Amino acid sequence: MPRKVNYSTGYGYDDDDYYNYDDDDYYNYEDDGHDYAEETEVVSKAKVKRETSKLGVWRCPICTFDNEESMSACDICGVLRNPLVKGSRDSSTKVGTSRDSEASKLAKSLFASLLQQNPKKAVTFEGKSDVIKSGGHFNFHEHGRIHGQFQDLLKTFSCQNHYKFNIEPFKFDTPSLDDMVSGGIHSSRVGSKATSNKILQSNASSGKDEMMTGAKAELIAGGSSIPIAKFGPNEIKQSASSQNSSKQGLSKSMKNLSVSSKSQSTEKGSIHDNVEDKLSQLNLAVVGHVDSGKSTLSGRLLHMLGHISRKDMHKNEKEAKQLGKGSFAYAWALDESAEERERGITMNVAVAFFNTKNYHVVLLDSPGHRDFVPNMISGATQADAAILVVDASMGAFEAGIDASGGQTREHALLIKSFGVDQIIVAVNKMDSVQYSKERFDAIKKQLGTFLRTCKFKDSSIVWIPISAMENQNLFTGPSDALFLSWFQGPSLVDAIDSLQPLVRDYSKPLLMPICDIVKSQSQGHVSVCGKLETGSLQTGFKVLVMPTREIATVRSLERNLQVCRSAKAGDNVTVNLQGIDGNRVMAGGVLCDIDYPVPVTNHLELKVVTLDISTPVLVGSQLEFHVHHAKVAAKVVKLLSLLDPKTGKETKKSPRCLLSKQNAIIEVALQLPVCVDEYANCKSLGRVSFRVLGRTIALGLVTKVLEQM
Ligand code: GTP
Ligand code: MG
Repeated sequence: MPRKVNYSTGYGYDDDDYYNYDDDDYYNYEDDGHDYAEETEVVSKAKVKRETSKLGVWRCPICTFDNEESMSACDICGVLRNPLVKGSRDSSTKVGTSRDSEASKLAKSLFASLLQQNPKKAVTFEGKSDVIKSGGHFNFHEHGRIHGQFQDLLKTFSCQNHYKFNIEPFKFDTPSLDDMVSGGIHSSRVGSKATSNKILQSNASSGKDEMMTGAKAELIAGGSSIPIAKFGPNEIKQSASSQNSSKQGLSKSMKNLSVSSKSQSTEKGSIHDNVEDKLSQLNLAVVGHVDSGKSTLSGRLLHMLGHISRKDMHKNEKEAKQLGKGSFAYAWALDESAEERERGITMNVAVAFFNTKNYHVVLLDSPGHRDFVPNMISGATQADAAILVVDASMGAFEAGIDASGGQTREHALLIKSFGVDQIIVAVNKMDSVQYSKERFDAIKKQLGTFLRTCKFKDSSIVWIPISAMENQNLFTGPSDALFLSWFQGPSLVDAIDSLQPLVRDYSKPLLMPICDIVKSQSQGHVSVCGKLETGSLQTGFKVLVMPTREIATVRSLERNLQVCRSAKAGDNVTVNLQGIDGNRVMAGGVLCDIDYPVPVTNHLELKVVTLDISTPVLVGSQLEFHVHHAKVAAKVVKLLSLLDPKTGKETKKSPRCLLSKQNAIIEVALQLPVCVDEYANCKSLGRVSFRVLGRTIALGLVTKVLEQM
């Protein structure tokens, strides 16, 4: 991969002084004689106690799901077990043994029948306990000897269901500094249903003009609307005619993609084949605090576009009412699992496709509940832009923006750290505040201040008041008289269409972080899903699958659920691979050009900025490390220096700890090797986030890949 070597930190010198470090507590911290290391240990022990174990299972302290003893992360919410690997005290438990889940949770649910043919296998791995000698050793290694080979270890890595994410930077002219990391956050900072997610196909008419009103859609939807297709084995269509060997080097001719392949897809509106495609691809994450109405909004949009049949809508309404959750009928178009419906929350990212006047939109409906932030990360790292949904109801907006636990804040910070610069703030549930202009203005003022501190530019934020439930201001301006008296538009869909066009790196070598995998035992194929970050792909291409370094051939391709022969940067694709053992492909891995393998490492130097944290980060702190679609346990092995958030200059060498809102250079060791790169070389593999006990505590950029494997 052609890598820029001009890494230099772009500090936002000209920005406001976000962090007000006149809080002496931060600076006097080291002098107060408090033993924070001890405190951390106590806290960590307390957390460990909270995890209850029954024979053969351990209960997740977050969502209370009983996981098999062999799972190192919760199967439901993805929270890492703490300690990550139980000691050998329990003789019934194999240390280091992990379930090879073969596919993500979404894939499992969608391919239940298929997966039944695949009994779960146990694998073992050998910990690389010698990775970092200076910083002690990992918890996960200290409880016993862990046997196995490196490849087994990689398999183990693949068992984690809920990680994944990757990032496509907008190349806007602003040096956005996902950058807030480089410049520091200022004073206050996207399978499966997520892992690969529920994928809803919405083969929409293109253009707002052609969009249907709800009533019209209902009429059309009556019998013959386009079904919402689940992403299942039957839908992975093989492009029979696409097996001709294709020369690699497609990138130059990708701009006006006009491929005619004999697609098995007969659905109308096949957006990529046979027609010159004038619409750009837009991966749009829908994020925000729990219950703000993200799924209802997404369901409404799909319904109005005619992508939910009247029959399905009626079924959802009826069943939702039966469960006493009638108001969730639209949300159920995306919240499909029984558990989600019962709990009334989204747990994994749902993916839907529709077209607007300017864009093929890939909608990533994220969970808002704090327990499922890892899944939100997985979806939202694919985002080019985001809709941040906030609930205008009295008290609800305040809960979301609350510094201690509101996901409005956390989601905004995360999407910015993934390189998303453009954001639409949908102030939803305006009906519940009688379409009050004052309420809208107050929300805009308070949230606007916070978004500025996250380094979103005012010019990149669009504020749209809506009511998803009452269909106000979604496709056309408001119809409610009171609403109309102070707001005439733009509508939400107008706002989507007015997002700036994207600039993609077609000319760079192929890079596709793998969001999810689906294996077909009967056909011996494996399909991988994800977004092409750079470069292009075509059927017949040979690709390198990392980190296992296996070469596979692209047998067929789907873009936005449409069979096609080629795809380019920005596209959301399913790649059917042949010539590779399915066990050598994993979610969290990367497809890349065989001449440009991405680095694989478990030892990194990073520049980080800490968020509001209650427990200091110390050498030895155990964290969850998230990069693109990979999530792995990490341990801080060195705190190298503190940096001035404005100048980026070193202010202190080897600090004892990191407190809230500090910029620092640190070294971390990862439990398992991951595909990662220096941010200067590859943004999408170089942006990371750290979480502890269900909270995001720091965002970072990779400055050095130490010890490549
Ligand atoms: P999570 O995915 O779990 O974070 O929730 P969500 O943001 O997807 O919210 P969801 O769509 O599930 O809606 C939560 C509740 O808000 C449901 O009862 C909806 O009916 C209600 N709701 C959504 N939009 C509106 C709206 O515009 N007005 C009113 N009054 N209620 C709404
Ligand atoms: Mg939802």
